[in-house]
Amino acid sequence: MSGKVERILKSATSDSELKRDEIISLLEVSAPDQKRNLFSTAYEVKKRTVGPVVYFRGLIELSNRCNKDCYYCGIRKSNRLVPRFRLEVDEVVEAAVWAHRNGYGSLVLQGGELQNDSHTRYITEALSKIHAATNNELAATLSLGEQSREVLRQWREAGAHRYLLRMETSNQKLYKQFHPDNHQWESRMQCLSDLRSEDYQVGTGVLIGLPGQTLGDLADDLLYIRDLDVDMVGMGPFIPHDDTPLASHVKTFDKNAQLEMGLKMLSCTRLLLPDVNIAATTALQALSDTGRELGLQAGANVVMPNVTDPKYRAVYQLYNGKPSINENSEQSRAGFEKSISSIGETIGFGLWGNSPRYKKRNC
Ligand code: 5AD
Repeated sequence: MSGKVERILKSATSDSELKRDEIISLLEVSAPDQKRNLFSTAYEVKKRTVGPVVYFRGLIELSNRCNKDCYYCGIRKSNRLVPRFRLEVDEVVEAAVWAHRNGYGSLVLQGGELQNDSHTRYITEALSKIHAATNNELAATLSLGEQSREVLRQWREAGAHRYLLRMETSNQKLYKQFHPDNHQWESRMQCLSDLRSEDYQVGTGVLIGLPGQTLGDLADDLLYIRDLDVDMVGMGPFIPHDDTPLASHVKTFDKNAQLEMGLKMLSCTRLLLPDVNIAATTALQALSDTGRELGLQAGANVVMPNVTDPKYRAVYQLYNGKPSINENSEQSRAGFEKSISSIGETIGFGLWGNSPRYKKRNC
């Protein structure tokens, strides 16, 4: 055990906040005992701040139609190989009712980014019908890309409580490199600020391990997220998707290295922001069968079991090897229950699971 890493972990859990160079030192640890120490320290912080309880967010992937053309994403507009779909409102409500009956305290409605009136109305209708069918008992999270402040307000009024919008990277040069010219980093940041103004609980995150991204970039990402003062963090390793421009630039893809960097970032997030909700994202599970357990043991406290009808799952693939595409909701639920009990944690059934940070801000 190097004294330096031990010292950083000790100070991060006592009096002082992690600094940029300390985050970099933690992200570069390679000795197995140091990695274990990083993960277990973050795990202890999680148990102390948010408890050994995992919150379920029932994930409804409601449409893969998307107007964006991000070079890394499998459902980008220019990918003509993907059949496009959109769930009927009734199908969305059916999935929500299933989640409610099964004790899930909250939902995430996720889909490609579209900005038009019919889409706005579709989401508004889905939100209203979900709440009517579930007795207003579910917390509703949206993850539908950048939207105008007016649209965000309309959805908030229709019953959305939370919104996830990844900044993808805090490095504007990298952002430019992985997006076409009409995708603006500034607009994304504006949307994050509008979400706060419209009284959403806000979540953001980044892609980890993009080609050319440095440990300094990742440390800056975490500090940027800290400054945004968000309630939720959802970030995951970049995984190439064959039918995207970026995949052809990725010569070798080291699954284990990506997984490991994803876990280190989770741990650093928990150390830096002890009281936020952090998701163990599906991308971790795509890289290892035990990815979500590892994520929970590195500091995450939220999972998003898919509750979408399996017939749509195969065409909602953002990256290669998305796990569980042949499972139904029951099977997904059983898989999550098994992994959570295998690490001795419990599930926060029936709970909205707001982050302690959100509670503090609003008391
Ligand atoms: N690998 C990992 N994550 C991806 N996303 C999109 N494409 C990929 C990929 N190839 C993530 C982005 C986006 C979220 C919905 O999915 O971060 O914000």
